[in-house]
Amino acid sequence: MNNPIVVALDVPSAAEALRLVRQLGDAVQWYKVGMELFAAEGPAFVRQLAAAGHFVFLDMKYYDIPETVKRATAVVASLGAKLLTVHAVDQVMRAAVDGRQGSDLKLLGVTVLTSFDESDLRMEGYSATVAELVAARVARARAAGVDGIVCSPVEVARVREIAGPDAILVTPGVRSAGADKGDQKRVATPRQALASGASLLVIGRQITRAADPRAEALRIRAEIE
Ligand code: C5P
Repeated sequence: MNNPIVVALDVPSAAEALRLVRQLGDAVQWYKVGMELFAAEGPAFVRQLAAAGHFVFLDMKYYDIPETVKRATAVVASLGAKLLTVHAVDQVMRAAVDGRQGSDLKLLGVTVLTSFDESDLRMEGYSATVAELVAARVARARAAGVDGIVCSPVEVARVREIAGPDAILVTPGVRSAGADKGDQKRVATPRQALASGASLLVIGRQITRAADPRAEALRIRAEIE
């Protein structure tokens, strides 16, 4: 059965991450490894997770010159990761597409960080609105051969329209009704996010900080079905 939950392993060590993975067992198939855990434990941890049969989403948000992105992407593909994020800038995306050739690594574009608002864009020299820049970058991502987009559940319906039915749309900011939102401001429930067009849902603290993470993951799956 197809399980859209991606648990964000936002913990500082492989020991803590593996404890969660063991607790979750077959309730979860996908794990997101971000900068913190990768900085701490590196490729060995990704290889270990992938070798154990889990699907690894490596959230590295690459942004560098094409040769560097291409080579680093090829290395990520060799680790057995299934998803990698890169910034949705044309040069970077085309280099990543080049680097993953011959592997089954899928690429996700990060359009505009959700911490950016229009005044941040102005400061960086962009005259577009956030929505305009997101839309343009989604279209270029697909044209470059990038497989999907990371987007908020609030924008996922619009992104789906632009990206097309085959795109892999991954949304963080997902919380069940009544769950603690933490620092997330614009959240949707798992059902709402899927109904709006999300393919995979990144869920961190609602699961990782639950008294019983496995029970919480199973509860969310039941809520989705
Ligand atoms: O704990 P929580 O469910 O809020 O974790 C969400 C995960 O998604 C974290 O790893 C966070 O870095 C990531 N994320 C996010 N919002 C974005 C992009 C990524 O929450 N706009």
